[in-house]
Amino acid sequence: MKKLFGVIGDPIAQSMSPVMHNDAFERVGIDAYYHPFHVQPAHLSAAVQGMKAIGVNGFNVTIPHKAAIIPLLDRVDPLAKSIGAVNTVVWENDGWTGYNTDGSGFVRGLQEEYGTSLEGKNMLVIGAGGAARAIYYTLAFEGAGRIDIANRTVEKGLELLNGCPVPVEGAAFSVAEAAEQLEVYDIIVQTTSIGMVPLTDESPLPVDRLKQGTFLSDIIYNPLETKIMREAKLRGARVQSGLKMFVYQGALAFEKWTGLTPDTKRMEEVVLNQLEEKNVNN
Ligand code: ATR
Repeated sequence: MKKLFGVIGDPIAQSMSPVMHNDAFERVGIDAYYHPFHVQPAHLSAAVQGMKAIGVNGFNVTIPHKAAIIPLLDRVDPLAKSIGAVNTVVWENDGWTGYNTDGSGFVRGLQEEYGTSLEGKNMLVIGAGGAARAIYYTLAFEGAGRIDIANRTVEKGLELLNGCPVPVEGAAFSVAEAAEQLEVYDIIVQTTSIGMVPLTDESPLPVDRLKQGTFLSDIIYNPLETKIMREAKLRGARVQSGLKMFVYQGALAFEKWTGLTPDTKRMEEVVLNQLEEKNVNN
């Protein structure tokens, strides 16, 4: 019988996960279908129960349900629990288990393009929302050296640091303070929505103090090159978009559901094609 997977969110029409996963299922030869489900917050609990009742095998969770779904699951992986967000749910041992593959997807993509070990590197995370927490805590679990936070609201940055489940050195700064000392960082991770379509002419912070050779990773993938990436490149930085993070969070979910490793190069091509189509149609 065909296996059923999906993604729940509100809105959901924009999601690129269905095309990416349906193609991946076909490539590995699994008879499965991945559907985008539009679930409003008031229906989240019923949706999770309904998924169980009709025998869905696993699903992704996106905005605005990543935190709200936690109490509705049977088990939550410790890293996802400390992040406070679940993006992948797997049917296992007669119940739903929640995981977070956003942080590990990010770290995998960063490691691939950064090339050398992250050990001992001085990092800065811009932003202190859900995405920043997933990335910060996963980097801390992976044994990163020092990770500072820059956020518009400094208290939120401090809260993020204080909630980190593993000890890691780091301080919380305002965005202006971080911009003044940008030369101390080897890796900068941009996690806010600033620069995303349609407001592509915005940047979270000035990069004139950036060190030559710094690696800047922006988790935005639409556009594939944000304003801060363009400016950082002009100052001699290496840059990456959020495309790899998106592909790897999906690939890690796929592995949890199927036990198989999908072709991530192919997944990347599928997402790129979709982005192009979107931009042509808009
Ligand atoms: P996500 O789950 O995508 O990380 P979020 O939890 O809403 O989204 O977090 C958004 C992050 O982007 C926050 O760090 C937010 O800063 P505040 O904590 O000060 O709200 C940051 N952010 C969003 N819009 C911003 C803007 N216009 N200027 C500065 N920071 C902004």
